[in-house]
Amino acid sequence: MKLSAVILAAGRGKRMKSRTPKILHEALGRPMLRYVIDAVSTLKPAKTVVVIGNGADEVRGRISDGHLTFVLQKELLGTGDAVAIARKELLKGTVLVLNGDCPLITAATLKSLLARHKRSRNVLSFLSFVDESMSGYGRIIRDSSGRVTDIVEDKHASALQKNMFKELNGGVYVIESEALAYLDKIKKNNSSGEYYLTDIIGIISGAGKRLDAYLCPSEEIRGVNSREELYEISVILQKRVISGWMQKGVTFIGPETTHVHVSARIGRDTVIYPNTYIEGSTSIGNNCTIYPGSRICDSVLGNGVIIKDNTLIEKSRIHDGSSIGPCAHLRPESVIGRNAKIGNFVEVKKSNIGAGTKAGHLTYLGDAEIGPGVNIGAGTITCNYDGKNKFRTIIKSGVFIGSDTQLVAPVRINKDAYVAAGSTITRDVPSGSLAISRGRQRNLEDWTKRREGDMSKEPGVKGKRKKAVDK
Ligand code: UD1
Ligand code: MG
Repeated sequence: MKLSAVILAAGRGKRMKSRTPKILHEALGRPMLRYVIDAVSTLKPAKTVVVIGNGADEVRGRISDGHLTFVLQKELLGTGDAVAIARKELLKGTVLVLNGDCPLITAATLKSLLARHKRSRNVLSFLSFVDESMSGYGRIIRDSSGRVTDIVEDKHASALQKNMFKELNGGVYVIESEALAYLDKIKKNNSSGEYYLTDIIGIISGAGKRLDAYLCPSEEIRGVNSREELYEISVILQKRVISGWMQKGVTFIGPETTHVHVSARIGRDTVIYPNTYIEGSTSIGNNCTIYPGSRICDSVLGNGVIIKDNTLIEKSRIHDGSSIGPCAHLRPESVIGRNAKIGNFVEVKKSNIGAGTKAGHLTYLGDAEIGPGVNIGAGTITCNYDGKNKFRTIIKSGVFIGSDTQLVAPVRINKDAYVAAGSTITRDVPSGSLAISRGRQRNLEDWTKRREGDMSKEPGVKGKRKKAVDK
């Protein structure tokens, strides 16, 4: 018998108060719907149908992966209507139906629900949980013999029902495909105008068919209907992700304030300090140290890399043994060679920095190709932009750039050349030479004394002028 899956993702998500469809809201950098799809796909269903409606194009655009079938629910008439629309796409066999707003569900729980469903020869099985702190869920009604007879939505439940029935509906169901015919018997709810999928429980139970609810940890079943709930599930997911990395040998000094996206990778014996964000497809090697306040997005760090406090790294690659920061910014397409040093308040953009090269302080390196063993003095700036176009600066190996230098691109500093501090370099510098371009220094002797004595005799104003001495 084949397994098909239906994921309900058409709803408005009114309680999120957002223009973005609810199930595209992200937890740890991934839309919540993606978590549900990933958990389902580990069961290898023959077909996975996603019911979309609100923001359908946006959802399809973000979620399509070639394995999903999308069906459109034009009018949002409730979860029962959503499954009825998906029905034409489903295969004969067993059908797994899940709400798209429960990102904490695990493949293990889905597998065990399927196994119990098969073992009990049920027509319908679903997940339940007990957690007095959670509200807004359907309540499972059981008769005196413990048999499930109905689900009553929280907003329609009487005080007596709320008091008597503490088992709640998790919104994850396994149904034999023949029983989907009972969907036609669901009536529109008078007060909400919706067809509730949950009404199928009362209908199947009333028809004397086998069905049951199985308890699972409430943590897994939490639906996200509001921003508070999105935060709560993000905290749980973050704990799962961070403990996963701890088990693989990563140290976290302050895990409560550390954010690691699910897609990020971290190597053994790396130490992560508090208030750091490790985002997107970032991969961090072994023995790295990430000091507090840094954000690393979609970047690759080799082994033994040190990221000092308050550093931002975007779409860059840092090779083994390099040190970046404090307060540095690597903008996209920066590649830092082995054992290089990018220091305090240094910004690098779309540049290659050679092995062992150092740019320690207050520097901007943009559109630059810098060889190995180069020393970039404090305050160096590559002037890469003339207001219209960007140009490249090339610095070959062994070059020494003195402090407070402007390199007006396009320009090339050849191997082992020196540039004197305070120079503005507009022409290429030949290999092994010293380039110096700055006004000669003049020392005006006794200038202070003369200025204090008689301002009118100040050189260049009036009176006797004392010869300037060049040094
Ligand atoms: C639903 C269940 C409730 C259960 C809870 C578990 C119903 C009537 N109630 O309530 O018993 O405890 O989930 O989380 O099913 N959707 C559509 N089309 C629609 C309406 C909703 O696709 O017309 C989708 C939504 O996008 C969402 C899912 O169905 O992913 C559930 O809808 P939601 O409005 O969140 O239902 P709950 O009120 O949470
Ligand atoms: Mg919900």
